[in-house]
Amino acid sequence: MEQHLSGQEISNFLASRRSTRDFLPTPIPQELLEQVLTDALTAPSWSNTRPFMIAVAEGEVKERISAEFQKRWAYLSKQLKSGIIGKIRLLITRYGLPTSNRIISKPYSKDLQPRAMRLGADLYGHYGIKREDREARDNWWAANYKFFGAPTELFVYVHKSLGIYAANDAGLMMENLILSAHGHGLGTCPQGAVGIWDDVVRKEFDIPKNYRLLCGVAIGYPSSSNANAFKANRIAPSEIKAKLKED
Ligand SMILES: Cc1cc2nc3c(=O)[nH]c(=O)nc-3n(C[C@H](O)[C@H](O)[C@H](O)COP(=O)(O)O)c2cc1C
Repeated sequence: MEQHLSGQEISNFLASRRSTRDFLPTPIPQELLEQVLTDALTAPSWSNTRPFMIAVAEGEVKERISAEFQKRWAYLSKQLKSGIIGKIRLLITRYGLPTSNRIISKPYSKDLQPRAMRLGADLYGHYGIKREDREARDNWWAANYKFFGAPTELFVYVHKSLGIYAANDAGLMMENLILSAHGHGLGTCPQGAVGIWDDVVRKEFDIPKNYRLLCGVAIGYPSSSNANAFKANRIAPSEIKAKLKED
Protein backbone atom coordinates (compact mmCIF):
# COMPACT_ATOMS: atom_id res chain seq x y z
CA MET A 1 0.00 0.00 0.00
CA GLU A 2 1.28 3.42 -0.94
CA GLN A 3 1.68 5.63 2.10
CA HIS A 4 2.89 9.23 1.91
CA LEU A 5 2.45 10.24 5.52
CA SER A 6 4.22 8.75 8.50
CA GLY A 7 2.23 7.71 11.56
CA GLN A 8 3.61 10.72 13.43
CA GLU A 9 2.58 13.06 10.60
CA ILE A 10 -0.95 11.68 10.74
CA SER A 11 -1.06 12.14 14.54
CA ASN A 12 0.20 15.71 14.16
CA PHE A 13 -2.35 16.43 11.43
CA LEU A 14 -5.23 15.10 13.54
CA ALA A 15 -4.09 17.10 16.58
CA SER A 16 -3.84 20.28 14.50
CA ARG A 17 -7.55 20.36 13.59
CA ARG A 18 -9.78 22.61 15.63
CA SER A 19 -13.30 23.91 15.14
CA THR A 20 -13.41 27.24 13.31
CA ARG A 21 -15.76 29.89 14.71
CA ASP A 22 -14.88 32.82 12.51
CA PHE A 23 -14.74 32.57 8.71
CA LEU A 24 -13.73 34.82 5.85
CA PRO A 25 -16.59 35.48 3.39
CA THR A 26 -14.41 34.10 0.53
CA PRO A 27 -16.46 31.51 -1.38
CA ILE A 28 -15.17 27.94 -1.61
CA PRO A 29 -14.29 27.04 -5.23
CA GLN A 30 -16.85 24.47 -6.45
CA GLU A 31 -14.11 21.96 -7.45
CA LEU A 32 -12.68 22.11 -3.94
CA LEU A 33 -16.07 21.56 -2.31
CA GLU A 34 -16.64 18.63 -4.68
CA GLN A 35 -13.25 17.18 -3.68
CA VAL A 36 -14.07 17.50 0.01
CA LEU A 37 -17.43 15.77 -0.53
CA THR A 38 -15.71 13.04 -2.57
CA ASP A 39 -13.24 12.52 0.29
CA ALA A 40 -16.15 12.43 2.75
CA LEU A 41 -17.53 9.46 0.82
CA THR A 42 -14.36 7.40 1.35
CA ALA A 43 -15.52 6.76 4.93
CA PRO A 44 -16.80 3.27 5.84
CA SER A 45 -20.58 2.83 5.76
CA TRP A 46 -23.18 0.26 6.85
CA SER A 47 -23.51 -2.11 3.82
CA ASN A 48 -22.18 0.83 1.81
CA THR A 49 -25.66 2.35 1.98
CA ARG A 50 -24.49 5.92 2.79
CA PRO A 51 -27.73 6.57 4.68
CA PHE A 52 -27.40 10.34 4.71
CA MET A 53 -27.96 13.42 2.56
CA ILE A 54 -26.30 16.82 2.60
CA ALA A 55 -28.11 20.06 1.81
CA VAL A 56 -25.40 22.48 0.65
CA ALA A 57 -26.56 26.01 1.49
CA GLU A 58 -24.72 28.86 -0.21
CA GLY A 59 -25.48 32.35 -1.48
CA GLU A 60 -29.08 33.55 -1.21
CA VAL A 61 -30.39 30.23 0.06
CA LYS A 62 -27.90 30.29 2.96
CA GLU A 63 -28.75 33.95 3.67
CA ARG A 64 -32.50 33.22 3.80
CA ILE A 65 -32.00 30.29 6.18
CA SER A 66 -29.63 32.32 8.36
CA ALA A 67 -32.04 35.29 8.49
CA GLU A 68 -34.93 33.10 9.68
CA PHE A 69 -32.68 31.29 12.20
CA GLN A 70 -31.48 34.63 13.61
CA LYS A 71 -35.04 35.88 13.86
CA ARG A 72 -36.17 32.76 15.70
CA TRP A 73 -33.20 32.80 18.06
CA ALA A 74 -33.72 36.51 18.87
CA TYR A 75 -37.36 35.82 19.73
CA LEU A 76 -36.67 32.60 21.64
CA SER A 77 -33.82 34.01 23.74
CA LYS A 78 -35.83 37.15 24.52
CA GLN A 79 -38.83 35.12 25.72
CA LEU A 80 -36.65 32.76 27.75
CA LYS A 81 -35.24 35.77 29.58
CA SER A 82 -38.71 37.20 30.27
CA GLY A 83 -39.69 34.76 33.02
CA ILE A 84 -43.07 33.05 33.11
CA ILE A 85 -44.72 35.61 30.78
CA GLY A 86 -42.11 34.87 28.09
CA LYS A 87 -42.61 31.13 28.47
CA ILE A 88 -46.38 31.49 28.17
CA ARG A 89 -45.89 33.65 25.07
CA LEU A 90 -43.69 30.93 23.58
CA LEU A 91 -46.27 28.26 24.28
CA ILE A 92 -49.00 30.33 22.64
CA THR A 93 -47.09 31.50 19.56
CA ARG A 94 -44.85 28.37 19.27
CA TYR A 95 -42.57 30.64 17.24
CA GLY A 96 -38.87 29.92 17.90
CA LEU A 97 -39.53 26.60 19.65
CA PRO A 98 -37.51 23.68 18.21
CA THR A 99 -39.23 21.91 15.33
CA SER A 100 -36.54 19.18 15.37
CA ASN A 101 -33.70 17.94 17.63
CA ARG A 102 -35.21 18.85 21.00
CA ILE A 103 -32.29 17.14 22.77
CA ILE A 104 -30.36 20.39 22.54
CA SER A 105 -32.78 22.16 24.87
CA LYS A 106 -32.50 19.48 27.57
CA PRO A 107 -29.89 19.47 30.36
CA TYR A 108 -26.89 17.13 30.05
CA SER A 109 -27.04 13.91 32.03
CA LYS A 110 -25.05 14.10 35.27
CA ASP A 111 -22.12 12.02 34.06
CA LEU A 112 -21.57 14.13 30.92
CA GLN A 113 -22.31 17.46 32.53
CA PRO A 114 -18.78 18.15 33.90
CA ARG A 115 -17.26 17.80 30.42
CA ALA A 116 -19.84 20.09 28.82
CA MET A 117 -19.45 22.60 31.64
CA ARG A 118 -15.68 22.55 31.24
CA LEU A 119 -16.06 23.38 27.54
CA GLY A 120 -18.52 26.18 28.30
CA ALA A 121 -16.27 27.70 30.98
CA ASP A 122 -13.16 27.46 28.77
CA LEU A 123 -14.95 28.87 25.71
CA TYR A 124 -16.54 31.79 27.57
CA GLY A 125 -13.22 32.43 29.31
CA HIS A 126 -11.50 32.59 25.93
CA TYR A 127 -14.12 35.04 24.62
CA GLY A 128 -14.04 37.10 27.82
CA ILE A 129 -17.71 36.37 28.59
CA LYS A 130 -18.77 36.14 32.22
CA ARG A 131 -20.88 33.08 33.07
CA GLU A 132 -23.59 35.18 34.68
CA ASP A 133 -23.83 37.51 31.66
CA ARG A 134 -26.77 35.81 29.95
CA GLU A 135 -27.05 38.55 27.33
CA ALA A 136 -23.42 38.10 26.23
CA ARG A 137 -23.78 34.31 26.19
CA ASP A 138 -26.94 34.54 24.08
CA ASN A 139 -25.22 36.92 21.66
CA TRP A 140 -22.29 34.55 21.38
CA TRP A 141 -24.66 31.64 20.67
CA ALA A 142 -26.39 33.78 18.02
CA ALA A 143 -23.18 33.60 15.94
CA ASN A 144 -24.14 29.96 15.30
CA TYR A 145 -27.10 31.24 13.29
CA LYS A 146 -24.82 33.38 11.12
CA PHE A 147 -22.84 30.18 10.60
CA PHE A 148 -19.89 32.12 12.04
CA GLY A 149 -19.66 34.03 8.76
CA ALA A 150 -18.99 30.88 6.68
CA PRO A 151 -19.79 31.10 2.96
CA THR A 152 -21.30 27.60 3.04
CA GLU A 153 -23.39 25.66 5.51
CA LEU A 154 -23.88 21.92 5.12
CA PHE A 155 -27.03 20.43 6.63
CA VAL A 156 -26.54 16.72 7.28
CA TYR A 157 -29.62 14.51 7.16
CA VAL A 158 -29.77 10.84 8.16
CA HIS A 159 -32.09 8.06 7.04
CA LYS A 160 -34.57 7.31 9.81
CA SER A 161 -34.75 3.55 9.11
CA LEU A 162 -31.20 2.82 10.31
CA GLY A 163 -31.49 4.69 13.59
CA ILE A 164 -28.18 5.18 15.38
CA TYR A 165 -26.30 3.41 12.59
CA ALA A 166 -27.27 6.10 10.10
CA ALA A 167 -26.04 8.75 12.56
CA ASN A 168 -22.84 6.74 13.01
CA ASP A 169 -22.28 6.61 9.24
CA ALA A 170 -22.96 10.32 8.96
CA GLY A 171 -20.46 10.93 11.76
CA LEU A 172 -17.78 8.92 9.97
CA MET A 173 -18.53 10.77 6.73
CA MET A 174 -18.45 14.14 8.51
CA GLU A 175 -15.09 13.43 10.09
CA ASN A 176 -13.58 12.57 6.69
CA LEU A 177 -15.15 15.73 5.31
CA ILE A 178 -13.78 17.82 8.18
CA LEU A 179 -10.28 16.35 7.87
CA SER A 180 -10.24 16.71 4.10
CA ALA A 181 -11.32 20.35 4.50
CA HIS A 182 -8.54 20.87 7.04
CA GLY A 183 -6.01 19.34 4.67
CA HIS A 184 -7.15 21.72 1.92
CA GLY A 185 -6.84 24.84 4.09
CA LEU A 186 -10.53 25.10 4.97
CA GLY A 187 -11.98 25.33 8.45
CA THR A 188 -15.17 23.69 9.72
CA CYS A 189 -17.46 23.77 12.72
CA PRO A 190 -20.02 21.03 13.28
CA GLN A 191 -23.18 22.69 14.59
CA GLY A 192 -25.81 21.00 16.69
CA ALA A 193 -27.25 24.49 17.21
CA VAL A 194 -28.67 24.58 13.69
CA GLY A 195 -30.45 21.23 14.03
CA ILE A 196 -33.46 22.69 15.81
CA TRP A 197 -35.45 24.28 12.98
CA ASP A 198 -35.52 21.66 10.26
CA ASP A 199 -38.62 23.22 8.68
CA VAL A 200 -36.55 26.25 7.60
CA VAL A 201 -34.08 24.05 5.69
CA ARG A 202 -36.86 21.94 4.16
CA LYS A 203 -38.45 25.09 2.77
CA GLU A 204 -35.39 25.49 0.54
CA PHE A 205 -34.40 21.89 -0.27
CA ASP A 206 -36.22 18.81 -1.47
CA ILE A 207 -35.60 16.38 1.40
CA PRO A 208 -37.56 13.12 1.65
CA LYS A 209 -39.69 12.58 4.76
CA ASN A 210 -37.68 9.51 5.81
CA TYR A 211 -34.62 11.66 6.46
CA ARG A 212 -34.12 13.67 9.62
CA LEU A 213 -31.76 16.52 10.32
CA LEU A 214 -28.70 15.53 12.33
CA CYS A 215 -26.67 18.76 12.47
CA GLY A 216 -24.96 21.38 10.34
CA VAL A 217 -21.33 21.94 9.40
CA ALA A 218 -20.09 25.46 8.71
CA ILE A 219 -17.27 25.38 6.17
CA GLY A 220 -15.00 28.01 4.64
CA TYR A 221 -11.66 29.73 5.01
CA PRO A 222 -10.76 30.54 8.64
CA SER A 223 -10.09 34.17 9.54
CA SER A 224 -7.13 35.15 11.72
CA SER A 225 -9.53 36.11 14.55
CA ASN A 226 -8.67 35.15 18.11
CA ALA A 227 -11.94 33.16 18.08
CA ASN A 228 -10.09 30.51 16.10
CA ALA A 229 -7.25 30.30 18.61
CA PHE A 230 -9.49 28.50 21.12
CA LYS A 231 -8.28 25.03 21.97
CA ALA A 232 -10.82 22.77 23.63
CA ASN A 233 -9.24 20.45 26.17
CA ARG A 234 -8.59 16.81 25.31
CA ILE A 235 -9.41 14.05 27.74
CA ALA A 236 -7.00 11.11 28.17
CA PRO A 237 -7.80 7.67 26.68
CA SER A 238 -8.03 6.32 30.24
CA GLU A 239 -11.19 8.41 30.71
CA ILE A 240 -13.09 6.54 28.00
CA LYS A 241 -11.76 3.04 28.65
CA ALA A 242 -14.25 0.73 30.33
CA LYS A 243 -12.89 -0.88 33.47
CA LEU A 244 -12.79 -4.64 33.80
CA LYS A 245 -15.31 -6.05 36.25
CA GLU A 246 -13.82 -7.14 39.55
CA ASP A 247 -14.65 -10.66 40.78
C1 LIG B 1 -22.28 16.99 16.52
C2 LIG B 1 -21.55 18.22 16.97
C3 LIG B 1 -22.27 19.39 17.20
C4 LIG B 1 -21.61 20.55 17.58
N1 LIG B 1 -22.34 21.70 17.74
C5 LIG B 1 -21.69 22.87 17.96
C6 LIG B 1 -22.42 24.09 17.95
O1 LIG B 1 -23.63 24.12 17.79
N2 LIG B 1 -21.73 25.25 18.13
C7 LIG B 1 -20.38 25.26 18.31
O2 LIG B 1 -19.80 26.36 18.45
N3 LIG B 1 -19.65 24.11 18.32
C8 LIG B 1 -20.27 22.94 18.13
N4 LIG B 1 -19.56 21.75 18.07
C9 LIG B 1 -18.10 21.79 18.20
C10 LIG B 1 -17.62 21.22 19.53
O3 LIG B 1 -17.87 22.15 20.57
C11 LIG B 1 -16.12 20.92 19.41
O4 LIG B 1 -15.94 19.92 18.42
C12 LIG B 1 -15.52 20.43 20.72
O5 LIG B 1 -15.57 21.44 21.68
C13 LIG B 1 -14.06 20.02 20.51
O6 LIG B 1 -13.31 21.12 19.97
P1 LIG B 1 -12.54 21.03 18.58
O7 LIG B 1 -13.52 20.65 17.51
O8 LIG B 1 -11.97 22.39 18.37
O9 LIG B 1 -11.48 19.97 18.72
C14 LIG B 1 -20.19 20.55 17.75
C15 LIG B 1 -19.49 19.36 17.54
C16 LIG B 1 -20.15 18.21 17.15
C17 LIG B 1 -19.35 16.96 16.89
